[in-house]
Amino acid sequence: MTAALIDGKGYAAALRQRLFKRAERLKQLHGVVPGLAVVLVGDNPASHIYVRNKGKAAQEAGLQSFEHKLRESASQAQLLKLLAELNSDDKVDGILVQLPLPKAIDSGAVIDAIDPDKDVDGFHVINAGRLATGQPGLVPCTPLGCELLLRAGVPQLAGQHAVIVGRSNIVGKPLAQLLLRADCTVTVAHSKTPDLPSLCRTADILVAAVGRPEVIRGSWIKPGAVVVDVGINRVTEKDGTMRIVGDVAFDEALPVAAAITPVPGGVGPMTIACLLENTFTAACRRRRIDPETV
Ligand code: GUN
Repeated sequence: MTAALIDGKGYAAALRQRLFKRAERLKQLHGVVPGLAVVLVGDNPASHIYVRNKGKAAQEAGLQSFEHKLRESASQAQLLKLLAELNSDDKVDGILVQLPLPKAIDSGAVIDAIDPDKDVDGFHVINAGRLATGQPGLVPCTPLGCELLLRAGVPQLAGQHAVIVGRSNIVGKPLAQLLLRADCTVTVAHSKTPDLPSLCRTADILVAAVGRPEVIRGSWIKPGAVVVDVGINRVTEKDGTMRIVGDVAFDEALPVAAAITPVPGGVGPMTIACLLENTFTAACRRRRIDPETV
């Protein structure tokens, strides 16, 4: 058996196409163009690339994009002042502060300062609480992307045992909530979990969100399981070339799993697509428009 590849890149492109049409309808029907404000503080080169990609993707989907760049030396007070302005700006439906922030700034305080109804990252404690209690809110983009890929690829999620390796606030914990909501039986594992390989072998759905290259081996996977690899790790080969790999040893997983998300081209592209979806959702809800009707 060779695992089917779950085509996140293709699925994300289709989502973005669909969103473009929905954005056109929203403009025609309600005169609304959703606006996404992306805030970048400092000189992190990777963050600059991510922010540029997010702005470009927003424009391609027919959304408005606003970029705000602050110097590395910007104070927390300056950033909080900018967020207060964006919170009260009616053209702005979604606010994303690119992480990591410079060390002098308290990320928690910054996330707290974003209006939860514009928090398109879904990181605000109010949105975490809404997700945990089944209320409508904004859901973090990467877990939302994982859920959409699983819904597309697994005929029946109800009753499946999902093992999520990684307990971050950004991926592991919110994905556990989403899969619980989809009636999976969910186990969240982490660095202190004893005998991780045996636990992983009980998973019908195995999600790797560890952030370390190829730690999940082929022998940890139950034959026929569906594997979602959230990892994006840069590794240097013996010949000095760089390569992006996931948290799963992909070549070992291929003959064992029923389906697997590749890296790159799996979960990664879904994250940006879901950011745009969240911005659209926020724009509708702020105006009491049901996004499902657009
Ligand atoms: N930095 C890396 N990933 C993310 C993300 O999903 N959101 C934000 N705000 N910053 C990030």
